[in-house]
Amino acid sequence: MIHLRSKQVIVALDFDSYDQAMSVCNNLDPEKFRLKVGKQLYSAEGPKILDRFHQLGFEVFLDLKFHDIPNTVYKALKNVFALGVWMTNIHLLGGTEMIQAAKEAQLASDKENLLIGVTVLTSLKDSHLKEIGITKDTNSLVSELSILAKKASLDGVVCSVHEVRKLKKNFGLDFLTVTPGIRIQQEKGDQTRVASLEMAIEENTDYIVLGREISQAENISKMINKLESYII
Ligand code: C5P
Repeated sequence: MIHLRSKQVIVALDFDSYDQAMSVCNNLDPEKFRLKVGKQLYSAEGPKILDRFHQLGFEVFLDLKFHDIPNTVYKALKNVFALGVWMTNIHLLGGTEMIQAAKEAQLASDKENLLIGVTVLTSLKDSHLKEIGITKDTNSLVSELSILAKKASLDGVVCSVHEVRKLKKNFGLDFLTVTPGIRIQQEKGDQTRVASLEMAIEENTDYIVLGREISQAENISKMINKLESYII
């Protein structure tokens, strides 16, 4: 039996407009689900879209995965935190100084928020890393990047379900894991390090990101009802 906590599932609104995103949001209870706004929707609608979701009562993970020089990341994140997002993220591959600059921006914010580091995208596997000159396997790279996140006191990481157990063992249960690449009915698509919903729960991940499983579902409200029935 699958058991989910309220707001454990973060629904990725990978759409080109607010109206399209509302076709999913209209079915969601903000007491049960959180939203993820990523590059696609944000670049179409801009930061104002966050106000609209906040007004509807949703908490939002702004998934822009910043990766730039430390000064730029610091200044961009100060703007992001001022938007009142629940969670946002950076790429840990930006290195220690960039990670620390991001943390400073979080500390300078007068709002409560979570700052998470992307380890290795769930679309990448060992052979992809090799192509870009990284000889470590995904699992070791995820661990090493997570050490940087922990040292800079980030709230946790984005990783695949396959890495959660080890990260929780090494860094403690309060080191948050946010896991995309979950498949229930849909094809893998561009994701490679995928896992089932059952496995995500078994591995004790904190947050489950679901995108196409909801947006491409044959019947969106049926899929959401099914997920709701798992919430205890
Ligand atoms: O459709 P699917 O469930 O594969 O969507 C996963 C979502 O999570 C997408 O919005 C994608 O940008 C995001 N994501 C990811 N891998 C990461 C970080 C975020 O797939 N490492």
